[in-house]
Amino acid sequence: MRTQVAIIGAGPAGLLLGQLLHRRGIDNIILERQTADYVLGRIRAGVIEQGTIDLLDEAGVGTRMHDEGLVHEGVLICIDGVRHRIPLKELTGKTLMVYGQTEITKDLMDGRAAAAAPTVYSAHDVAVHDISGNAPRVTYRADGKSHEIVCDYIAGCDGFHGISRKSVPAGAITTYERVYPLGWLGILSDTPPVTDESMYVRHPRGFALCSMRSPTRSRYYVQCSLAEDIDAWPDERFWEEFKPRLDEESRERLIIGPSIEKSIAPLRSFVAEPMRFGRLFLAGDAAHIVPPTGAKGLNLAASDVWYLSRAFIEHYAEHSDAALDHYSARALARVWKAERFSWWITTLLHAISENPFDLKIQLAELDHLFQSKAAAMAFAENYVGLPY
Ligand code: FAD
Ligand code: DHB
Repeated sequence: MRTQVAIIGAGPAGLLLGQLLHRRGIDNIILERQTADYVLGRIRAGVIEQGTIDLLDEAGVGTRMHDEGLVHEGVLICIDGVRHRIPLKELTGKTLMVYGQTEITKDLMDGRAAAAAPTVYSAHDVAVHDISGNAPRVTYRADGKSHEIVCDYIAGCDGFHGISRKSVPAGAITTYERVYPLGWLGILSDTPPVTDESMYVRHPRGFALCSMRSPTRSRYYVQCSLAEDIDAWPDERFWEEFKPRLDEESRERLIIGPSIEKSIAPLRSFVAEPMRFGRLFLAGDAAHIVPPTGAKGLNLAASDVWYLSRAFIEHYAEHSDAALDHYSARALARVWKAERFSWWITTLLHAISENPFDLKIQLAELDHLFQSKAAAMAFAENYVGLPY
């Protein structure tokens, strides 16, 4: 087989890139290790920035998002039982959209099916070859047979555990990492959300987050230890741990129901540099991970795709490689600012350190955030998403 861009991974990064390229007449094939149903079963991100919304519109898959997504003009931060609101729209003119990653993925899959663009699900043993030459190849197994794709470029959109980044010789890549000693235990429940806007909660028992997917579907998280066993968390235990962390108004409004999904996500900061190796380009979680506290992971995957799609379009339409050559530096400049923000808000809101000095600094920083318009503005411009 031959294509212009071989894309590895059918998560949001791979599907979005595929759709944007297809609409510009650039041939691409997506290879995904899992089945489509498995990909759709993963409950992850829920909050998307304006830049991501614009890209989904450009990809022609934004209709349902605009119909069903919830527009949020502010975000709540609850400190030891007292609520504060950061008025995002008032401060920045921008809003956020609450619309699940599962729905985005479904819309992108439907868009790709309608365009009859090829995706190979259950592609096993995907491997990249000759990335430093002019004719890179991707090999894989599917339906019991071996296959090979010859292409111009490879886009590694295969997430943190994918093979793209791992295919690069160790000496060519530098990685930066911080692993936090905690995870998020999340549940999805068909009960009305406890707040109208997302609420980040700092409490002596640990962090919690009140989020949502719709007016009738809640997504809640509590900070947990990394060693936690999900089977040791029946729903009752989750609610017992979650409820006391809330403010009084939320506790009164909380409606408890059975979970329809429950999972634990570890918290990690990670960046691989550069994001290009010859004809292999990394995008999304394949190149970087943020702890989920700032809601930046999916949005960073989208901004990488913005830079990369423009670079491929410029290459094929204008025969210029300037944007391809600048891709890594441009993407990383935005990635590092989101890494900084995600690290900062994670350390600000979680019970991490036992040192009383660190605790006092957390409280002083939060007090400054609520008292100072400049501090609130700095928070807001990062939270709604920095410009591309
Ligand atoms: P992925 O979604 O990981 O997709 C990679 C794909 O590649 C997968 O489908 C995988 O199966 C496939 N793959 C892997 N290996 C191979 C292989 N060898 N061959 C072929 N295919 C392969 N982000 C936000 O912006 N906002 C939020 O509110 C938010 N909340 C989150 C909450 C939680 C609990 C978690 C865990 C994450 C959250 N994120 C959030 C982060 C966000 O979900 C990720 O950043 C996003 O999924 C990255 O997309 P991606 O396409 O780069 O990678
Ligand atoms: C979700 C919401 C957030 O604000 C966040 O930081 C992480 C995840 C969610 O709805 O899943």
